[in-house]
Amino acid sequence: MTLANAAVRRKKTPSPDIADPLAARPALLLAWYDRHRRVLPWRPPAGRRPDPYAVWLSEIMLQQTGVKTVGPYFEKFLARWPDIAALGRASLDDVLRMWAGLGYYSRARNLHACAVSVLRDHGGMFPGTEEGLRGLPGIGPYTAAAIAAIAFDRRTMPVDGNIERVVSRLFAVEETLPQAKPVIQRLAETLLGDSREEKSRAGDSAQALMDLGASICTPKKPACSLCPLNEGCSARQRGDQESFPRKAAKKSGELRRGAAFVVTRGDELLVRSRPEKGLLGGMTEVPVSEWRAGQDDKAALGQAPQVGGVSRWHRKLGVVTHVFTHFPLELVVYTAHVPARTRAPKGMRWVPIATLEGEALPNVMRKVIAHGIG
Ligand code: ADE
Repeated sequence: MTLANAAVRRKKTPSPDIADPLAARPALLLAWYDRHRRVLPWRPPAGRRPDPYAVWLSEIMLQQTGVKTVGPYFEKFLARWPDIAALGRASLDDVLRMWAGLGYYSRARNLHACAVSVLRDHGGMFPGTEEGLRGLPGIGPYTAAAIAAIAFDRRTMPVDGNIERVVSRLFAVEETLPQAKPVIQRLAETLLGDSREEKSRAGDSAQALMDLGASICTPKKPACSLCPLNEGCSARQRGDQESFPRKAAKKSGELRRGAAFVVTRGDELLVRSRPEKGLLGGMTEVPVSEWRAGQDDKAALGQAPQVGGVSRWHRKLGVVTHVFTHFPLELVVYTAHVPARTRAPKGMRWVPIATLEGEALPNVMRKVIAHGIG
């Protein structure tokens, strides 16, 4: 190579952005997203603006539920209620019924309350800022940031579990969760970038990090060789990617125990609605005892409903287990058959087993009924 050639070469060395993997991260991330973004039901094709209603609906569903489970529910909701006006006019009962099986039912109540509020107080338009969105039912700081970024390209970063993992690895954040959240939030925001293009694509930057966490920077065996940010990744350099994010030891809630009573009258089942407030508020259930830590079977059976015609309860072998966010639950299931025309106790009702799908039945009750009838 001649000296002159060498000089030309030197001049052509990459710009600082490309030479510095850290400064180049936002651009690398967007370029990766343009090629590898996941196709998801709530994402419009590249270059098309998302519908804030669809973004909001998906984000509420995704709050405590994975992408795979949410997909069909999202499609069902959108087909039945294609816009905020349709959902705002729906009855809460219909919304709860459609939500049945997704869990965390306060989300469905808030979803309905939010649709009503957007219609009544905001002329049917979602506010376009985080602050405005936070004023709506069911929209906390994370969801406000997600909607503001994805639907309105506001420069904010909604940090979910996937993003927490990516960022804590990139920067080898030693602090444990949840204390590390503010640090991770600040570091995640550095990935929004500040070129003109990056400034206008905050929603894509956020979704790129979500996708990276879901498909490459996975909890176990991350595919670092495919990662667009692998060059400057601190955890990868140290070889201890899987140890991030650091977590404090988990304290799980104490096991609660109780009984569930599956009473059939021909091809009908005895059910009631749970109180509006609290766990599984307003959902349908078979009669149950209290759910308490340390409760023995006799105490739980003592709380069986008084149903005329029940001479004795049959205990089903085994137990039904279910894990709620704050505690695991173990239910013993008792069954009884009663004669035709037996009255339902006060506050309870008979429903044909064939129409149970139309009831707002939480997953724990689906398990109980399958155990009791199956
Ligand atoms: N998790 C939460 N919001 C999401 C989104 N918009 N896309 C993918 N995963 C998500």
